[in-house]
Amino acid sequence: MSSPLGEMSVQVFLDEYWQKKPCLIRQALPDFAPELEVDDVAGLACDDLADARLVSGSYSSMNWTQEYGPFKPKRLRQLPESNWTLLVQDVEKHYPPLQCLLSAFCFIPSWRIDDLMISVAAPGGSVGPHVDQYDVFLLQAKGHRRWQIARSFDPGLAPGCELNLLAEFTPEQEWDLAPGDMLYLPPGVAHHGVALDTCMTWSIGLRAPSQADLLQALGEWLAETQAEGNRYSDKPASELPRPGEIAPEDVQGLLELMRQALVDERLPNAFLGSFISRYRLAHQPAPPEEPISPEELFSELSNGRRLVRNPWTRLAWVEQQGKAELFAAGDEFVCSIGTAQALSSTPPVLPEQNAPNLDLISRLINSGHFYLETEDADQPD
Ligand code: SIN
Ligand code: CO
Repeated sequence: MSSPLGEMSVQVFLDEYWQKKPCLIRQALPDFAPELEVDDVAGLACDDLADARLVSGSYSSMNWTQEYGPFKPKRLRQLPESNWTLLVQDVEKHYPPLQCLLSAFCFIPSWRIDDLMISVAAPGGSVGPHVDQYDVFLLQAKGHRRWQIARSFDPGLAPGCELNLLAEFTPEQEWDLAPGDMLYLPPGVAHHGVALDTCMTWSIGLRAPSQADLLQALGEWLAETQAEGNRYSDKPASELPRPGEIAPEDVQGLLELMRQALVDERLPNAFLGSFISRYRLAHQPAPPEEPISPEELFSELSNGRRLVRNPWTRLAWVEQQGKAELFAAGDEFVCSIGTAQALSSTPPVLPEQNAPNLDLISRLINSGHFYLETEDADQPD
C-alpha cells in the first residue's frame, strides 16, 4: 500500500505534526475502497469475540446511552434513522487482510500501533466531545463526517455520563471529511465528530503505556521472576527498638531489598519485551491441539503450506549482542535479527528453513503465535 499521507511527505509529517499538532490530510488515501462494508461491521458487532459498543444520543440534548456487544442482529435492525454510532475495536484481528492498512503506517514503530477501530454512524451519530490519551489517525472510509477540535478547553466532564464526555466544548477548528480524507490527532486534543450522512470512520489507534501501567506491570513481573526466598532480614540492632518505629536502618534494609530486584540485568529487555508484546492485548493466543515437530513443519512447508501469524499475537524484538530477543504476546524466543524481522513483517516472510529457524517456528506454532494455513484457508480467532 502507498503512503497513507497523500501528498505530504513522511518527513514533513514527522517533523511538523507527529505528537505535536493536529493535521488534516485531504485525500490521504485517494480512491480508498474500504474492504469492509457497513453490513460487515454490523455482522462483526454480533460476533462473540468482538469488542463492540453502540452509542446513542447527541451533544445538543446530552441524552447519551451506551450498550455493549455482542449484539443480536435484531437489535441492530431496529436502530432509528439518526443519532447512533456502532463501534468495533480490533477489526484487523478479526479480518486480517486489514493488517496491510496498519502496516502502511510503518514510519511509526510497529509496537506503537494498537488497532483498527471502525465506527459506523447514522446521520447525527457521534460519541460526543471527548479527549483521548493516544494518537489517532481518523480515516474517512464512507460518507461524510464533520470533525470539530479544540486544543484549549475546559477539561470538566459531563456529570453522570459513563462516556467521559466534556461538559463544555467550543470548537476552534472544524472540517467536513469525505472518503479518503484523514485527520491526525495527537493525544490531549478535544474532538467531536458528527456524521453528516450514513458514514464509516476507520481509526488507526496508537498505544503508549503510561508510567503507572509500566510500574504496575514491572511490579508484577518482578514479583513473578524474583527468587522466592528473597525476604527482609534484620541486622543486629545496637539499641532496643522504640515502640511502633520503623528505624532508619530498617527503612534502608527494605529499600535495599527493592533495589536488588531492580539490578536484574535481564530487566530492561525481558520485562519491556514481554510487557510491550502483551500491552492492551484483548485475547491471549491459545496453543493448538496438536503440536508440530520441526521435521513435520519442514515437510508441511515443502508441500506449500503458508505460515500465518495469529492476528492476536503481537511480535516485538530487541537487539541483544547481535541476536534478537523476540517476544510474542509475552513469550520470549531468541533468533537472528533477520529472522525476527521476517516474522514481524506484514504478511510474515518465511525465514530460511535452517534447523534453528524450524525449531523456532515450530515453538511459535506450538504456543499459538503462528499457524500453517489450512487448505480451506480458515483462520482461528
Ligand atoms: C468515531 O469514530 O466516531 C469516534 C472516534 C474518536 O473520536 O476517537
Ligand atoms: Co476520540
